[in-house]
Amino acid sequence: MVGKIIGTGSYIPEQIWDNEKLSHMVDTNDEWIRERTGIARRHIAGEEETTAYMAAKAAETALQNAGMKAAEVDLIIAATISPGEIMPCTSCEVQKRIGAVNATCFDLNSACTGFLFALNTAQAYLGQEIYHTAVIIGAESLSHLTNWEDRGTCILFGDGAGAVVLKASPEGRYTQVTHSSGEKGSVLTCTSRNQPKYVENSRAPETYMQMDGKEVFKFAVSKVPEVIRELLEKTETDSGKIHRYILHQANERIVKSVAKRLGEEMEKFPVNIADYGNTSSASIPILLDELNRKGDFSQGDLLVLAGFGAGLSYGASLLEW
Ligand code: UT7
Repeated sequence: MVGKIIGTGSYIPEQIWDNEKLSHMVDTNDEWIRERTGIARRHIAGEEETTAYMAAKAAETALQNAGMKAAEVDLIIAATISPGEIMPCTSCEVQKRIGAVNATCFDLNSACTGFLFALNTAQAYLGQEIYHTAVIIGAESLSHLTNWEDRGTCILFGDGAGAVVLKASPEGRYTQVTHSSGEKGSVLTCTSRNQPKYVENSRAPETYMQMDGKEVFKFAVSKVPEVIRELLEKTETDSGKIHRYILHQANERIVKSVAKRLGEEMEKFPVNIADYGNTSSASIPILLDELNRKGDFSQGDLLVLAGFGAGLSYGASLLEW
């Protein structure tokens, strides 16, 4: 059994902050941000648009797209590093909001690789026939973890959510390759927001995302092509057969570099970072949903999904649409 994607959905907050707005907040400018990252604007969640709210909206649209009722869902996994609450988990909140009364729900934190790892986890459950239908969500309110006085990070991130519906099927393909490099964890960090009650201070700097951008960049451009090659070798798949490579949207230059290192045309590597910035675990499902709604996928198309991020962690999955 393989979990086939039978529906996709996403939710993008209404509020848009363009590069021009950021140039009044920190010492930066539109030209630099576009050239170095490909980002033109990002969406910022309003007060009502909590991580769970966006996740539930994305799940609802994915279920509509799949033509399924919430009560038919057996499993919900939400990947997030920016839940509104530590407990209850975001996926239980989604369950409540959409009425998925029969689902088992839990969250998964693997930062920008989170959606991919959640998808892999669901595949294991569906493959073993423990569950038959699953909703996998990537949802982030990164604006809450962003230090808006740090130009090294604040230009990169945005908020949003994406989701897919999986149904167990006897036909189809799904293979994954994953890796983690915990020893490199210090290059991308964010500690818990909560301070012991006796500590009296305003928000500590380490409670915002902190990043050695150059190190993360080097890691991504070397490891992502490597893991994609490993996946293609493992599955004995000719790269010419891949319809699209759906990469985590962290920086357009990273995507271009991966395409070049793999000797592939950029048209196989869709990019939407200009509109959303880096939405961490939400970036892959948002892009999948955009392409699906444009009618970019046909039955039988082979897709490679690739994620990378804090941990450090990275992975790639091959699936048949
Ligand atoms: O999801 C995974 C998480 N993160 C990533 O994947 C991020 C990976 N890293 C990156 O995308 C890039 O490293 C950044 C976009 C963060 C930075 O780009 P860069 O080309 O590595 O820039 P840099 O840090 O080497 O800085 C180049 C110059 C420096 O000035 P000098 O020393 O050359 O005079 C910086 O001070 O650009 C300056 N700079 C800026 N200028 C305007 C750094 N940030 C900014 C800024 N606006 N926001």
